[in-house]
Amino acid sequence: MTRTVAEVHAESLRDPSGFWGRAAESVRWSRPFDRVLDDSRPPFYRWFPGGQMSTAYECLDRHVDAGRGEALALVVESPMTGTRATYTYRALTDAVARCAGALRAAGVGRGDRVVLYLPMVAEAVITMLACARIGAVHSVVFGGFAPAELAARIDDAEPVLVVTASAGLEPGRVIPYKPLVDEALRLAKHVVPHCMVLQRPMVHAELVPGRDRDYADAVASAAPVPCVEVEATDPLYILYTSGTTGQPKGVVRDHGGHLVALRWSMEHVYGLRPGDVFWAASDVGWVVRHSYIVYGPLSLGCTTILYEGKPVGTPDAAAYFRVVERYGVDVLFTAPTAIRAIRKEDPAGQGARAHDLRSLRALFLAGERSDPATVAWAERILGVPVVDHWWQTETGWPIVANCLGIEPLPIKHGSPTVPVPGWDVRALSDDGTELARGETGALVVKLPMPPGALSTLHRAEARFVEAYLARFPGYYHTADAGLVDEDGYVHVLARTDDIINVAGHRLSTGRLEEVVAAHPDVAECAVVGVADALKGQVPLGFIVLQSSATKAPDEVIAEVIAAVRAQVGAVASFRRALCVARLPKTRSGKTLRGTLQKIADGVPYAVPATIDDASILPDLEVAIRREAASSSASP
Ligand code: COA
Ligand code: AMP
Repeated sequence: MTRTVAEVHAESLRDPSGFWGRAAESVRWSRPFDRVLDDSRPPFYRWFPGGQMSTAYECLDRHVDAGRGEALALVVESPMTGTRATYTYRALTDAVARCAGALRAAGVGRGDRVVLYLPMVAEAVITMLACARIGAVHSVVFGGFAPAELAARIDDAEPVLVVTASAGLEPGRVIPYKPLVDEALRLAKHVVPHCMVLQRPMVHAELVPGRDRDYADAVASAAPVPCVEVEATDPLYILYTSGTTGQPKGVVRDHGGHLVALRWSMEHVYGLRPGDVFWAASDVGWVVRHSYIVYGPLSLGCTTILYEGKPVGTPDAAAYFRVVERYGVDVLFTAPTAIRAIRKEDPAGQGARAHDLRSLRALFLAGERSDPATVAWAERILGVPVVDHWWQTETGWPIVANCLGIEPLPIKHGSPTVPVPGWDVRALSDDGTELARGETGALVVKLPMPPGALSTLHRAEARFVEAYLARFPGYYHTADAGLVDEDGYVHVLARTDDIINVAGHRLSTGRLEEVVAAHPDVAECAVVGVADALKGQVPLGFIVLQSSATKAPDEVIAEVIAAVRAQVGAVASFRRALCVARLPKTRSGKTLRGTLQKIADGVPYAVPATIDDASILPDLEVAIRREAASSSASP
């Protein structure tokens, strides 16, 4: 008998151990877990303690053992290079086993960290799974980040090995990665003993004798190794994400809970079955790639697609639809910004019409708020459900979604639908009381969170508690504001901290401010996220110059923009800043960033009661309007 989402959700909260214990039955436990949930030490929770298993086995060998070795596991589609490659489950298992041998030969053991700084190449997936195979902990760093950001992550993770490639590709340009990695290794305090370098045909990287090894040579000379069974509670990976300071947070994911949750979500959230083709068109280095390019689809035995390209310009706005047709994609997942980019280039949706998209059952969107106009457009041109769903690097899988595998609910534009089974989502007021339906407050998840959510921050348990658990005792604080409406639908409205979402990329304005403030002519600054028709948000900098400043305002602006690009990375898309006489502040000296943002977005705002001097606001409005006009006039 089919059950409703409400019934499944209620059951998951009433009896989490029973619910997730049943979900865990699909896993091969080489040693059974002592209990499903260890809740003896709140606010810390552990799933499947005592159990031993292998994530790599569950994603690869298991399917070969079950007679599905010839099924397609991975497709690598690169419109950037005009190449494509496919791996069956057997071929991918063999490649991973051999890569794992190469990692072992480079001295990587169980629990050791391996940092990956790789473009969208098959080796990125293979190396992640190879780490899992030997119980090593991978930490993938997005290639759009500059050397200083990579160095900060290396210092936190203290890897024994860095795996990189000679180059990444962005439209119209080749980005040599190796000099960036060399620079990061020079900046880092931690000394990395080994580096494996994948040579790509477009650039040859110089290898440092004694430290660097050619990736292909290392793998070719390695013996394949079997899966190492690890504790369910052992770390599988660390993924750094922007925190409210310049120091990124190392989100730690375990093996057992993660695998159980992802496999469950593939079936119940995305409505997939083994053999289906699932494509998460996400950039490398983000949580989506971990959960839904690698571990989710492979754990269920689906075909997954790794795509080196953009939604537009590689070569055109039909690029996604071409891939859907070519591989018969069942479910596509991307960020709303990608759909906005396609719509901007091809408002009539001709690219979609020109391809056979009959395989497509649904489009899922996440990473930022899905604006209703974008969702409506995608529904019209695709003719399938367009499902907004809400999650975070920390949660690892969707908190709120329309669970197509349980019971598709009516879609309400502007809402990612209802809490997914396992997630007890509430809206709280500032004092921690639960709000009535329709009232906006802090979105939180009542503890314990389901399996798959972060278990801690790497070597920063106190920060883990302070950042997520201390604000509302007994709850995980998502740092998103929103409400639960009269139908139980959740609406996610805005971040309550300094995180902004630029083209689905999560950035800390605090980090950007650190770089801007370091300019000798800058007395103080603020960076806020302002609305952008394509990227959702882009950063806008406000600079107060030193009275002793030697350079002209335009020169300082150009230099801080260049500094952010060099020190944080191009991905910050920091292209706009203006010099102002003063920043609006409260009487206690806190910069009123929210007011700056509202003025810049051109939305009505109330003059804050706490402002120390409201007389500066009219001049600010004029300066902001002038900057906006000149930035929209420039290409
Ligand atoms: N390595 C090096 N540089 C990178 C990079 C990488 N891996 N990824 C992006 N960059 C660079 C880009 O080349 C660009 O540089 P530029 O300033 O010289 O043009 C800059 O970082 C900003 O990149 P991006 O935000 O991707 O902007 P874009 O204009 O190139 O493309 C979109 C805009 C909307 C098409 C693109 O952002 C997109 O496809 N987004 C999907 C988002 C996504 O998958 N998010 C993941 C979470 S679901
Ligand atoms: P990240 O950790 O990079 O996945 O970013 C997580 C943040 O992106 C969330 O805290 C939200 O602010 C935002 N976000 C992700 N998905 C959605 C969504 N469907 N609707 C609104 N905001 C979203």
